[in-house]
Amino acid sequence: MKRLFFTTLFLAISAIAFAADPPVAKIKCGPWVVNVDQTEMTIVWTTTERSMGWVEIAPDDGTSFYTVERPRYDEDFMGRHVVSKVHHVRITGLEPGTTYRYRIYQQGIDDSGHNPVPSGQITASNVFSQKPYAIRTMDYNKQDCSFTMINDIHGRDSIMLALTDGLKAEKPDFVVFNGDMTSFMGSIEDIEQQFMSRATKTFATDIPLVYVRGNHETRGPGFSEFLNLFPTKTNTPYYIFRQGPAAFIVIDSGEDKPDSDIEYGGTAAYDAYREAMAKWLEQAIQSEEFRSAPVKIALLHIPFDKGTGWYGNNELRRLLLPLLNKAGIDVMLSGHTHRYSYRDKGYCGNEFPILVNGNNDRVDVKITNQQIHMEVKDATGKSLHTHVVKVE
Ligand SMILES: [Fe+2]
Repeated sequence: MKRLFFTTLFLAISAIAFAADPPVAKIKCGPWVVNVDQTEMTIVWTTTERSMGWVEIAPDDGTSFYTVERPRYDEDFMGRHVVSKVHHVRITGLEPGTTYRYRIYQQGIDDSGHNPVPSGQITASNVFSQKPYAIRTMDYNKQDCSFTMINDIHGRDSIMLALTDGLKAEKPDFVVFNGDMTSFMGSIEDIEQQFMSRATKTFATDIPLVYVRGNHETRGPGFSEFLNLFPTKTNTPYYIFRQGPAAFIVIDSGEDKPDSDIEYGGTAAYDAYREAMAKWLEQAIQSEEFRSAPVKIALLHIPFDKGTGWYGNNELRRLLLPLLNKAGIDVMLSGHTHRYSYRDKGYCGNEFPILVNGNNDRVDVKITNQQIHMEVKDATGKSLHTHVVKVE
């Protein structure tokens, strides 16, 4: 009896000690910044524990981050601050073409009651012994636009490092992942380990990220984490954005085989999805945001081909190519084949050239309202192919 009393007492004390000392939430992966426009951006990161996350913003004016109290932005949903291991804080009301420094925070949660309550130590990104992260917003009046594209990395960290090392210092306006960064959307941890941890180290804290979904990101139990980790303004993987003289259409290729293929086990519904996307595209190319841009670029993981390709490719060509021709696209950038090719106008009914980047190279693109300069480089930085397209 006495023994039972002491055992119960010990368990009660342990429970109190545990409740008073919740695990400390720390940054697990990130931050990276998506959905960057002239006046807004979304900062994303993951944490080791369920936590409440928020961001502080400071101008890039040479002052210490600690000079004044910085404005705080929370992630709110239906009237509540979000508690999660994935954080996406949307910042609005920004100025075009302006660099903002930012700091991310998280606080662990006491989950013992009816409501999760922030509890325990607050941790944050370092702004004391390390330069704060900083992001520049888009500017439609900028005279030029530059970006770097990689694709088909399939989780290979060494090639990811070789192709993105130094990008933070090079400061392109943004970086494009043109699909198949992984082979399979498993867990969030898979995405972190396979390429986002590396991306965060080489550029993603300070350079906006544009992610074009490939057919491999459609696969696996974690496929729906795509928009959780890489949110867009349309809440779909297809959308339009602008920078300088260029408008960009991000298109989602969906799967490459028929929906009935045994590989999908009866779970694929890409026929209807592609039809819905084509309806959206028809409207999007008529928008002022798109039509007013002197340069028009399409980003699509699976390139159009001559109709001898797989089912998904043929459906993309049937549904999207006439619309993109009508839209006056200047250049399309793709991946998927793991091999470089340049499909000139008229290759398969396309009225614009298609540059297909291989799986071990990157494309550096510089755009003015006169031309689109595209240079394909290997992992050592050696120039392999250059194309210059005059804007008509
Ligand atoms: Fe692919």
